[in-house]
Amino acid sequence: MYKQIILCCLVLVNLYCNGVEGYLQSNRTVLVNQGQYMSYLEYLPPTYSESGGAKSPVIIFLHGAGEVGGTVDTLQKLKNAYGSPPYMIDKNTWPQSYPFIVLSPQIWGWWSCHFVHMLTKSVATKYPGADTSRIYLTGLSMGGAGVVDTIRINKTVTDYYAAAIAICPAQQPGGTDYVAPVSSGLPILFFHNNGDPQVSITNSQNWNNTLNDNNICPKTNLTVYTATSHDAWTKTYDPSSSFNVWNWFLQWTNVRPSGCGQPNTPEPTPTVTSPPQTTTSTTTTSPPSTTDTQSEIEGSKDNMSSAITLSSSISAILLLISLVIIF
Ligand SMILES: *[C@@H]1O[C@H](CO)[C@@H](O)[C@H](O)[C@H]1NC(C)=O
Ligand SMILES: *[C@@H]1O[C@H](CO)[C@@H](O)[C@H](O)[C@H]1NC(C)=O
Ligand SMILES: *[C@@H]1O[C@H](CO)[C@@H](O)[C@H](O)[C@H]1NC(C)=O
Ligand SMILES: *[C@@H]1O[C@H](CO)[C@@H](O)[C@H](O)[C@H]1NC(C)=O
Repeated sequence: MYKQIILCCLVLVNLYCNGVEGYLQSNRTVLVNQGQYMSYLEYLPPTYSESGGAKSPVIIFLHGAGEVGGTVDTLQKLKNAYGSPPYMIDKNTWPQSYPFIVLSPQIWGWWSCHFVHMLTKSVATKYPGADTSRIYLTGLSMGGAGVVDTIRINKTVTDYYAAAIAICPAQQPGGTDYVAPVSSGLPILFFHNNGDPQVSITNSQNWNNTLNDNNICPKTNLTVYTATSHDAWTKTYDPSSSFNVWNWFLQWTNVRPSGCGQPNTPEPTPTVTSPPQTTTSTTTTSPPSTTDTQSEIEGSKDNMSSAITLSSSISAILLLISLVIIF
C-alpha cells in the first residue's frame, strides 16, 4: 500500500516537473473590428499568475505567408510552422523556464498595424498577470513585414512595445517610416540570410540604414547569416544560439533609456499601407537548408536552458526511484 502511494506521488511530481500543462496552447480570439475576430494561440508560462507574484512579459509572434488562415480550425498551421515559437512550444523545445506569455495571432491576408495593435491593446484586460511594460513584437517574412508595419505608424502605437525583432521582413521602409520608431526609441533588431531567394536582404539593410541614419537610440542592428535559404528564423529563435534573442528581449521595457527619441525629421507623415513588394509564396514549413553556414558568434551560453536540463535530471532520478520501489 505504502509503495503504491509513494509511486503515485512520484508520478505526479514527475508530471509536474515535465510540465505537461505548460506546453498547452489554447485557441483564443480578439475583436479587431465590429463583428470581426482574429484567432490566436495563447501560451501561458508555468509562472503565470493573476493573483500576485511577478508579472509575465509578453511575446507577440507574427507568422509568415505560409500560415495564413483565419479561423480557429487553421490555427494548427501555426504549430506546424518549423522553427517558430508556436512550433517550439508544441514540440516541447520551448524552455519551460521562459517567463513569457506567447500570443501567436493568425491573419487571413496581409498583416497590418491595426490587427496587431488591437491584440496588443487587449493584453491589459485579457491578461491581468501580464507585464504591459514588456510586450515584445517579433515575426518572420510576411510577419516581419507585420512587425515593421506596426512600429512605423505613429509613436503612440510604437510606445506599446518594449522591443521588436523582424526576421527577413517582406516590407521596405517608406519615406518617413523611421520617424515613429526613432521618436519612440524602440530597440529593434533585424536578421536576414544574405542569399535569401524570396525576400531580398536589401529590405533589412534599408531598415537598418534608415533607422541608424536617423539616430535611432539604442542603435538598431542587422545580423546577416551566410545562407541561401529563406529561413533565417530557426537560428534566430533557437534558445541555444550563441546570441539568445529571448534574453535580449528581457533587458528592455517600454520605459526608454534616457537620451533617446530625437529623429532628424520631427513631423510624422501618415503613410498608406503599401502592398507586398516581394514574393508572398513564402512558407515556414520547410526544414532548414543544409547550406546554412552561419559563423557562430562566441558568447556565454543561455542560462535559462539549464533549468530544462535540471528538470530532466529530476525526472530521471524520480523514474529510477519509481523503478526501485516497484521491483
Ligand atoms: C484548437 O484548434 C485545433 C485545430 O483545429 C484543434 O485541434 C484543437 O482541438 C483546438 N483546441 C481547443 C482547446 O479548442
Ligand atoms: C496612431 O495610430 C492608431 C492606430 O492606427 C490610431 O488609433 C491613432 O489615432 C494614431 N495616433 C495619432 C496621434 O496619429
Ligand atoms: C547597420 O547600420 C550600421 C549604421 O549605419 C552600419 O554600420 C552597419 O554596417 C549596418 N549593418 C549591416 C549588416 O548592414
Ligand atoms: C549585430 O550584427 C553583427 C553583424 O551580423 C553581429 O556580429 C553582432 O553580433 C550583432 N549584434 C547584436 C547585438 O545583435
